Amino acid sequence: MPEVLAMDFAEEIETEPAIVLEDLVFARGGRRLVDRLSMTLGPAGVTALMGPNGAGKSLTLRLIAGLIEPDRGQVRFAGGDPAPQEMALVFQKPVLLRRSVRANLDHALKTYGVPRRERAGRLAELLALGQLESLAERPARVLSGGEQQRVAMVRALVAGPRYLLLDEPTVSLDPQATAAIEALVSRAVADGARVILVTHDRGQAQRLADDIRFLHKGRLVEAASAARFFRAPQSAEARAYLAGELLL
Ligand SMILES: Nc1ncnc2c1ncn2[C@@H]1O[C@H](COP(=O)(O)OP(=O)(O)OP(=O)(O)O)[C@@H](O)[C@H]1O
Ligand SMILES: [Mg+2]
Repeated sequence: MPEVLAMDFAEEIETEPAIVLEDLVFARGGRRLVDRLSMTLGPAGVTALMGPNGAGKSLTLRLIAGLIEPDRGQVRFAGGDPAPQEMALVFQKPVLLRRSVRANLDHALKTYGVPRRERAGRLAELLALGQLESLAERPARVLSGGEQQRVAMVRALVAGPRYLLLDEPTVSLDPQATAAIEALVSRAVADGARVILVTHDRGQAQRLADDIRFLHKGRLVEAASAARFFRAPQSAEARAYLAGELLL
């Protein structure tokens, strides 16, 4: 089994971790797609999950979110399992309701129990946050990919989530749309969200992430601060991935 390299954030781990993954196994068809995965995520900031296609990043995110159950092991949160409104997810392909942008956001506010008298004000704030004012009355599903993703991100922030899980949120977006999403992520972090970001975009990881967990074949191969990971990756797998080589 590969050694986990470069545990150079002992400081963070000494403080109360926000999330602990303990020996997670998720198997299908006799294959361990997530294989004895353990990691500790500190109380604040952005962790990027990186690794080649099929490494198990999305599955790991889904295990953390509780959308799938591990065959073995567990995910523990500081302060116990989060309530639904404390955790928000944004996927590569946003799933929006077949109604206007405004109605999508209003629906989210209703879902989280924001009283009617506060909703108009909150709606205005959310539209401004996502620079969505001019799109407010448009049907959400006919917006461009980047516009839809902005709606999905703003919707994810409605309840002020403690945990924000993002699975390749800017893939296929242009640089401007990517910057808009990244600004929303930074805003969420400033508001106290703990972010876990799956990305293949090295620049994005360097801009947003404090630390990196590199996965390969369902296993954690390397864990390091972002600065260290990109400057001097320790594992042969991470070096090959960053060099753009196909990892088998
Ligand atoms: N429900 C399932 N049943 C069987 N195999 C699955 C299931 N879900 C995922 N897999 C497989 O598990 C592996 C890991 O999938 P996962 O989606 O987590 O990869 P990933 O790291 O997110 O890759 P990518 O970068 O391509 O998104 C893949 O080989 C995938 O085909
Ligand atoms: Mg994936």
